[in-house]
Parts: sequence; C-alpha cells; structure tokens
Amino acid sequence: MENFNFYSPTEFVFGKGREMECGALVKKYGGTKVLIHYGSGSVVRSGLLDRVKKSLGEAGVAYVELGGVVPNPRDTKIYEGIELCRKEGVDFILSVGGGSCIDSSKGIAIGVPYDGDFWDFYTRKAEVTTALPIGTVLTIAAAGSEGSPGSVVTKEEGMLKRDVGSDLIRPRFSILNPELTCTLPAYQTACGATDIMAHVFERYFTNTKEVEITDRLCEAVLMTMIKETPRVIAEPSNYEARANIMWAGTVAHNDIVGVGRSQDWNSHMIEHELSGLYDCAHGAGLAVVMPSWMEYVMNHDVMRFAQMAVRVWGCEMNFENPEATAKEGINCFRKFLKSIGMPINFAELGAKEEDIPYLVETLGVGDGVRGGFMELRAEDVTNILKIAVDAKVR
Ligand code: NZQ
Ligand code: ZN
Repeated sequence: MENFNFYSPTEFVFGKGREMECGALVKKYGGTKVLIHYGSGSVVRSGLLDRVKKSLGEAGVAYVELGGVVPNPRDTKIYEGIELCRKEGVDFILSVGGGSCIDSSKGIAIGVPYDGDFWDFYTRKAEVTTALPIGTVLTIAAAGSEGSPGSVVTKEEGMLKRDVGSDLIRPRFSILNPELTCTLPAYQTACGATDIMAHVFERYFTNTKEVEITDRLCEAVLMTMIKETPRVIAEPSNYEARANIMWAGTVAHNDIVGVGRSQDWNSHMIEHELSGLYDCAHGAGLAVVMPSWMEYVMNHDVMRFAQMAVRVWGCEMNFENPEATAKEGINCFRKFLKSIGMPINFAELGAKEEDIPYLVETLGVGDGVRGGFMELRAEDVTNILKIAVDAKVR
C-alpha cells in the first residue's frame, strides 16, 4: 500500500426529511446570505425548492436563487452566478440538485473571489487558493460531487468539457435523502449507477500490490450496485434500495475506496470528450467507453481482471486460461449495463465513428502518454474508441 492522506471533511446528513435541516446547516457553517442554485426544474416540480426556502427562512438566512443549470453544466451559467453573488453579497452557495448543479456551484464558488476569468482554473492557468463555502442537497446518486474535490464544466464555445480539483471546493455539508431520488426516471437512475460503478473501477484497476482492504471495499460497492440497481429500476420508490445506492455513490468517489493505491481515470477523461461533444449523459458515455477500455488494457494485468470476474460477477476461475475468465467478467459488465438500459456502443449512444480523430485530438494526448493503469498514447485511445464503435454483449 502507498502512503496517503485521507481528507473528507464534508458533514454528510443522511436520511428521510433531512433537507429541512439545510437552513440550520448553512448557519452552522457561517452562511448569512445564500445563493440557491438548481437545475432545469425537477426540484421545483417535486416541491423540494419550497422546502429548502422554508428551512432557510426558519433559520433566518437570506437567499437569492439561480436555476437553469443543465446536465454537462455550462460556463455561461457560472458567469451569471458569479455576477449575481457579487451583486447580492452572497457568502454561501447551496446546490439543490445533481452533480451538474454541484459542479456549477463549485465553479461559482471559486469564481466569486477571483479577479480573473474563472475558466483559468479549468485550464490549469490558475490554482484555487480561496472559495466561497458550499452545501448540497443531493437529488441523484451518481457523480459523487457531494463529497469530492472535483468540478467538471463545459465551455459552451467549442463544447469543451474540463475539470478542476481542490479540497477548497469540497462541500461543507451534503444532505442525502434517498427519498428525493425516487422521482428519477429509470434512464437517469441507470446513468447514475453506471457512473458510481465507473468511479470504483477507476480505482480498482491499479498497479499497486497488496491492497486487499481497498480491493474488498471496491468489490462491496460494486456488488451493492449490481444488486440494488435492478431493484430501483423495477420499484422506483424502494427506499432501502435507494438508500444503499445513495451511500454507495458517495463512498465510491470521496476516495475512501481508493486511498493508498494508484488509480486510472482514463475512461473518465475519454468519456468527458464524448459528453462534451454530444451532450450525452456522463454515465451513458461511460457505459460505452469503460468496457471497451477494459478489453483493450486487460492483458496489462489479466489476473486483476480475472479477480474482478470471480469476486464481483461470480464467474468461475479458469486456471488454465485466466484470459477467458477476465473476458467473461468484462462481458458480464456489458450485459449488466445493457440490462439496466444503458447504451453499449457508438450507435446506441448517438456517437459517430468519423468523430474519433476529433475526440482523440481534443483529449490532447498529442505525442505524449496518459498515465494510469496502462499508459495510453493517442493511438491507444483511438483503438479503444474503435472497440466501442460496435461493441456488443457476447
Ligand atoms: O436539472 P433537473 O431538472 O434537476 O434534472 C436533472 C437532470 O436532467 C435530473 N434529475 C436530477 N435529480 C432528479 C432529476 N430528475 C428527477 N428527479 C430527481 N430527483 O437528472 C438529470 C441529470 O442531472 P445531473 O446533475 O446532470 O446528473 P449527475 O449527478 O449524473 O451529474 C453529471 C455531471 O457530473 C459530472 C459529469 O461529468 C456530469 O457533467 N461529474 C462530476 C464529478 C465530480 N464533480 O466529482 C465526477 C464525475 O465523474 C462526473 O464527471
Ligand atoms: Zn464519473
């Protein structure tokens, strides 16, 4: 195991009705004037926004609001938010929604105190040194942004999706009420589940030896998702299954399952080019990219893939031919994704083979290599995307 620091300072407030505590929590973390930031209307329709306002009002916290965040959140909304916060003297941002809404909130939080263009943080021109505090009321188990130091934003001009990471934008608190996720359409639930599993796989495929504790934690999260996802798709209001998925989503990405080991993240980086270009759901893009990446890199450590097949998917180990076991595990993953309604190839996602050179170019590998479980050159990324073009379940 490698040396590590584990820093997860967010207060997670979990369970039924807990959104009514958001006013008191904002106050606890020093907020006096809040920007309530939300998406394209689900929180209005469900009545959640009204409950949040009521809680803030009861705690005596003033607020302004800005809705309209779209999936794959745009820079343009963040500029609007920064201006509004400055004009209104906002000192705390409360995100009410999913990962897109949280990531937009994080962009605003670092943009308000910064003199330059907030996009500088996403192009590595500037480093985050200060940020407004953030709290979240989460409505979808997926991105893990409620406990992560990351924010992923799309620049509308050119549709380039880029990320920033800083402990300064980890939320002060995140309210996780599984009931709020019961209104999710099956497709969004499945996209979220895919993202959660992908966050674990990015950590599971490691070159670090002797990491039994985190291997086993990863496997537990994956097996939970395999059990609970079909359950919530069949019964959207199953609270217990929603609750297990919601906590799985947070632990999959606050790094508790990934400490002390090298990680990969190439599937994510490749996928961000897809959801940037096609504006598809991040989870759907991952369903197409990640099993294809697995097929391509499998022989880098075939025993690790065989381990996944046996421990996570219940395949039988073929000691004469571990490669066959590894392949079976990857096929189980694709089969599972298909069964929950995810696309598994370019056509099903709405992606085009002729865009592959553009996708590889915008990823920016150039003549270099991307580090990770297996180092990738531009040619490797092209090959992975080619596998994804007509991938199918065997
Ligand atoms: O906008 P509204 O009307 O709220 O509708 C949303 C949106 O259309 C809807 N929705 C959310 N909660 C709902 C609901 N509909 C009904 N009932 C509910 N309870 O679902 C749609 C998707 O929402 P979004 O916030 O986009 O989903 P998600 O949480 O999957 O976030 C995806 C974004 O997070 C980024 C992705 O790249 C993508 O841009 N990621 C962020 C990460 C991070 N910050 O750490 C890591 C991830 O790997 C990921 O890259
Ligand atoms: Zn993700």
